Amino acid sequence: MIVIIGSNKGGAGKTTTATNIAVALAKRGYDVCLVDADPQRSACRWHAEREAAGLEPSITLIEKRDNIASALKTLGEKFDHVIVDVAGRNSRELITGATAADLIIAPHQCSQLDLDTLAELQDQLVRVRDLNPDLKAAAYHTMASTNPAVRETERQEFLTFISDFQEVSVIEAVGFYRKAYRDVMATGHSVMESDNLQASAEIEALCNEVFGDGR
Ligand SMILES: Nc1ncnc2c1ncn2[C@@H]1O[C@H](COP(=O)(O)OP(=O)(O)O)[C@@H](O)[C@H]1O
Ligand SMILES: [Mg+2]
Repeated sequence: MIVIIGSNKGGAGKTTTATNIAVALAKRGYDVCLVDADPQRSACRWHAEREAAGLEPSITLIEKRDNIASALKTLGEKFDHVIVDVAGRNSRELITGATAADLIIAPHQCSQLDLDTLAELQDQLVRVRDLNPDLKAAAYHTMASTNPAVRETERQEFLTFISDFQEVSVIEAVGFYRKAYRDVMATGHSVMESDNLQASAEIEALCNEVFGDGR
């Protein structure tokens, strides 16, 4: 499967979602390729730390810029799963990648500024579907509040907002705001390799929902 982790907002949790999914799938025994298509190179830096530390499973990382469509198609034939990290804006990589992808996972916080960019994503989707009619898109609620007093209302707000965008479905799994997600990035780990069982379970749930249950 070719999955783009993409939204039109920086700091939404794209790279964090991409690297964690990549490790989770590799741990399940899949051949995974992580594509860094963001000039900021955050996934590359994470990957360099992972390699330097000799962590297993090792992840194949490829850097691609500009028109990434044919590169993704080729990688899609070689690997079980291709996970693509793109920049947080209306990038050429997001658009060209989407012509070759099966799914766009769009991480979003439950904030108006983040969610407002969904209109742009929906416009892009409609256009790209002229070339890739089977492309799907799903919003992933990230950095959700763990505070029991607001947890439920925040989720409801998120679901209500997304329901306005008919082309975008919602991922049931939720990623909460947890320090572990930040901490592991610097050392090339995933939360699955940390002692934060809640964060680890969140990534498991996300992967089960998107890729099916683990091998
Ligand atoms: N679930 C989370 N909980 C806490 N911090 C997070 C979470 N997801 C991402 N972050 C942090 O938020 C910042 C932006 O995340 P990042 O994945 O780089 O976003 P993007 O790639 O969309 O710009 C980073 O500092 C990252 O460590
Ligand atoms: Mg990023």
